[in-house]
Parts: sequence; structure tokens; C-alpha cells
Amino acid sequence: MPSILYLLTVLGLSNRLVNASSTLFWGGTVVAFDEDSKSLSVIRNGSVLVTNDRIAAGEFAAASSFRPEDVYLGQLVGLYEALNGGVTTTLDHAHHTWSNATAYAGLNASIESGARVIWSYAFHNISSLNYTISDQIPNFREIAASNVLDGTATELGIAFDAWGPNPNIPETEEIVHLAREYNVSVITTHCLAGPWGVNNLPEDVHAFGILNDSIPVVFSHGSFITAWGAQLLRSTNQYLSITPESEMHYGHTHPHSYVTQDQTALGVDTHFTFSSDILTQARLWLQAARYHFFSAVLDQWRVPSRNPMSVVQAFQLATRAGGLALRRPDLGVIRVGAKADVVVWNARESPSMLGWVDPVAAVMLHASVGDVLHVMVDGKFVKRDGKILASDYQAVRDRFLASARRIQSIWRDKPYPVVSGQSSSGYEYEEPLEVGTMRGQGTGYGELFV
Ligand SMILES: *[C@@H]1O[C@H](CO)[C@@H](O)[C@H](O)[C@H]1NC(C)=O
Ligand SMILES: *[C@@H]1O[C@H](CO)[C@@H](O)[C@H](O)[C@H]1NC(C)=O
Ligand SMILES: *[C@@H]1O[C@H](CO)[C@@H](O)[C@H](O)[C@H]1NC(C)=O
Ligand SMILES: *[C@@H]1O[C@H](CO)[C@@H](O)[C@H](O)[C@H]1NC(C)=O
Ligand SMILES: *[C@@H]1O[C@H](CO)[C@@H](O)[C@H](O)[C@H]1NC(C)=O
Ligand SMILES: *[C@@H]1O[C@H](CO)[C@@H](O)[C@H](O)[C@H]1NC(C)=O
Ligand SMILES: *[C@@H]1O[C@H](CO)[C@@H](O)[C@H](O)[C@H]1NC(C)=O
Repeated sequence: MPSILYLLTVLGLSNRLVNASSTLFWGGTVVAFDEDSKSLSVIRNGSVLVTNDRIAAGEFAAASSFRPEDVYLGQLVGLYEALNGGVTTTLDHAHHTWSNATAYAGLNASIESGARVIWSYAFHNISSLNYTISDQIPNFREIAASNVLDGTATELGIAFDAWGPNPNIPETEEIVHLAREYNVSVITTHCLAGPWGVNNLPEDVHAFGILNDSIPVVFSHGSFITAWGAQLLRSTNQYLSITPESEMHYGHTHPHSYVTQDQTALGVDTHFTFSSDILTQARLWLQAARYHFFSAVLDQWRVPSRNPMSVVQAFQLATRAGGLALRRPDLGVIRVGAKADVVVWNARESPSMLGWVDPVAAVMLHASVGDVLHVMVDGKFVKRDGKILASDYQAVRDRFLASARRIQSIWRDKPYPVVSGQSSSGYEYEEPLEVGTMRGQGTGYGELFV
């Protein structure tokens, strides 16, 4: 169940190849980033010149049931889905390290996808497969010491979910040592806390001396983060990845995330469950944040006098904040010298965007994945004229469908888990009120069409 942090950069342009290593996007509106003022800069009828993998100029005129094959296909098609939606960078909490072979399968797919992937090797004891952290360390070392990532857009990170409470201190110190030894691109962890358990709070990670260091640490969710933990994020400049849709879907919620948005980027959880594009996440989050701050006023029987969160702020969370969470100021922005990760929206023809004036509002409030015309990662097109540019996409799709059918049938035969009594975190389960969507006796939850 990967928790993914996504970035996108947004335009609305035509493009033409200037020469083999350069592409000029021209005649559109550029939502660029001004490094001096640290704010968005909208350039109408602007252009962007990409040379190799960098933006050269902004010209004002112009687990167990998964075989390695299943992991490979799931990872590859999942990344195509992300690219199709305009997501150029993915921080992957790569849970699929269930054997040496599944680890390589997911890594290979990440490299082949063409996406920018910070593939973060999950260290976890998979007792059902007899593949424990002590088995994973040699696999990780082999990958880290090899040259498989050289010249690719994939980088190596570490994912670890046992920082606290009650960590195995020598084992956790070994993970920290590995992170430093190979100077990984990121460390990531799931932080929920509260009744959910799964603490991994900033203070738990800080206890191992790695929070206030040069390696970025990204905390997924942070639902029940403490006030002190939030301050630690600020003082060490580390980030939360809020995954708005999953936190609502599963009930993880995000009671304090509205006030930690200065140390926050947006992410996608379990992307087989719901939408994987960051724009949907940003839109959901924007409106949820407005609801939250509006409610505080309405609870006092007063009427809100202004809007608490802007489309520009949501756009910043969806783009540049993801880069900052990775300590990569060259990601998620359009400016000279930034990585050439570019998304082109077809704002001229899309019925949902026709008549737009403010390009940031047009994207944040009206656009859909269907309006993403071109996507470039590291100076290379991965989507062009509305189509993913995977040479063997048809064959991958057929293999993926066969894999999906096999796994779905395994899960269909498993009984539903019993959710009553005490949860694994020690807190009691409680049934929420069920919604009635028709008048009368109530319709019940309804059938699941699986
Ligand atoms: C956009 O810029 C180009 C190049 O300078 C110019 O030829 C064209 O007239 C401009 N279009 C508009 C609508 O301003
Ligand atoms: C991963 O790619 C390498 C190099 O292309 C290849 O040797 C290896 O067999 C692949 N492994 C898996 C599990 O796909
Ligand atoms: C993994 O298993 C080892 C060996 O049983 C144990 O010492 C360690 O605490 C476990 N680590 C985690 C994170 O579960
Ligand atoms: C699990 O793997 C270890 C070595 O990593 C081996 O010694 C042990 O026999 C294996 N156990 C089972 C049940 O396969
Ligand atoms: C996994 O890879 C490591 C590193 O090469 C190796 O030591 C180990 O024997 C491999 N495990 C299996 C089960 O092949
Ligand atoms: C680790 O890598 C980062 C990014 O490439 C670099 O800035 C930093 O200096 C490296 N740190 C060490 C200790 O090598
Ligand atoms: C982080 O490190 C800096 C520089 O060493 C130090 O001034 C600061 O107090 C540290 N912060 C925390 C929370 O440890």
C-alpha cells in the first residue's frame, strides 16, 4: 500500500521540438515560480525552453499473493496512471519488498515507467514469507551499491514504520546507519498515532538523531501529531504528506493538519483504492480546509467574512511543497534551472476550462485529468497529445489485466475481517451511524459489486 507524494507543474501551451535535446513550449500561459519573491508568476503568451533535463529559459515573448510479475505490473501501471494525471514525481513508500525478487520487480518498473520516483525500500518483517529485516538489508545494500539507478530518474530512499513507540533500538539504529551510509534521497514513515496507533511521530524519529540532519524525512498523514511534533517539523524543516482522500476514506482524519500546512505537501495513499492524481487531492483538501475554518466561525453563529484558503495556496501544496519536502527546490516549479518536469493543460479546447481568466483557479477548480495534454519528466515526454508514450502499453495492459484478475479472485475468496472488540492498537472498535440515502426504513449499506 504505497503512500505517495506527488508533484505537478502546470502550463497550457503548444510545443515543438527545437532540436534533438530541446523542446520549446510556446503560445500559452505559464504558471512559473519566482525564486526571489517565492511566489507564483503567471506569464501570459509565454514560453518555456527545455534543454536536456532542465528548464533552460522561460521566455516572456513566447504481499503474499503477489508474484514478482504482479508487483512489476502493478507498479508500472500505477505510475502510468500517475503520469497520465500529470504527476511527475512520486515518493513511493515501497511496501513491495517481500522478497529479493519483488523488490527488484518494483524497482525495475519504477525505472522503466519514466516517472521521477524516489523508490523508498521498506524494511519490515514479513514473517509469512520468512523475509525479515535482516534478510532485506543485504538486498538493499546490493541495490544501493549497484549502478542500476545511474542515469535514470529513479532514486533510492528508505521506508521504515517502527520508530516508536517501543522501537527495537539496535535495529532502528542500523536502519539510520544505512540511510547515512548510502546518503539516501529520503526517509519516509507512516505517522497516524491517536486511536489508530502507528505512531512514528516526529519526536520518535528525532530520538534517533536523524530528524535534524541533511536527509529529508517525510511523515505520511500525521493525523494525531502532537503540538510538539509539529514544532519539531518546523525547527528541523521536515514535512508531512497529507493524503486527503485516504484520510477521509479510511477515517484516519486530519484534525490538526489544517494548521500544519506550512510544513506539508500532498500525497496519495493506496492508489488502487481511489483517485491517484494530485489535482483531485488538492481540490478535496482545499475545500476541506475551507470547511474546517468556516465551521469555526459558524459554530459561533457568525458569518465568515473572507475565504480562509486560496487556490494559489492549494497549488503550492500540490507542486512546490512536494519538492521542498524532498529538499529539492528544483522540483515542482517552472523557473530557469529547475528540472524539466512539465504538465501542459489543454485549456484552449477543454469544455471544463473554456473562458478561464486565472490559470491557477482554472486548474485548481475546473480541470480534470482528461485535460492533461502533455507531460514531460526530466526533459522527456511521457505523455503526448493525450496519450501515455509507453511503447508496449497494449501488451502491459493485457498482462496487467491477467494479473489483476488473478489477485482479485484470491481476495474474493477470503472472508471479511471481523472488526469488533479491541483493535490492534488497544482501542475499542465502535460502529459509526450508517447513512440513510432513501426515505423510510433505510436502504441499508447496499451490495458490493465485487
Ligand atoms: C504571442 O506572442 C507571439 C510571439 O511574440 C506573438 O507573435 C503573438 O502575436 C502573441 N499573441 C498574442 C495573442 O498576444
Ligand atoms: C530487473 O532488471 C534487471 C536489469 O534489467 C534484470 O536483470 C532483472 O532480471 C529484473 N528483475 C526483475 C525481478 O524483474
Ligand atoms: C523484526 O524481527 C526481528 C527478529 O525477530 C525483531 O528483533 C525485530 O524487532 C523485528 N522488527 C520489527 C520492526 O518488527
Ligand atoms: C527462514 O529463513 C532463514 C534464513 O534467512 C532460514 O534459516 C530458516 O530456515 C527459514 N525458515 C523457514 C520456515 O523457511
Ligand atoms: C537476497 O539477496 C541477498 C543479496 O544479494 C543475498 O545475500 C540473499 O541470499 C538473497 N536471498 C535469497 C533468498 O535469494
Ligand atoms: C547527500 O546527498 C545530497 C544530495 O545529493 C548532498 O547535497 C549531500 O551533500 C550529501 N551528503 C553527504 C553526507 O554526502
Ligand atoms: C538542529 O540543529 C541545529 C544546528 O545544529 C540546532 O541549532 C538546533 O537546535 C537543532 N534542533 C533540534 C530540534 O534539535
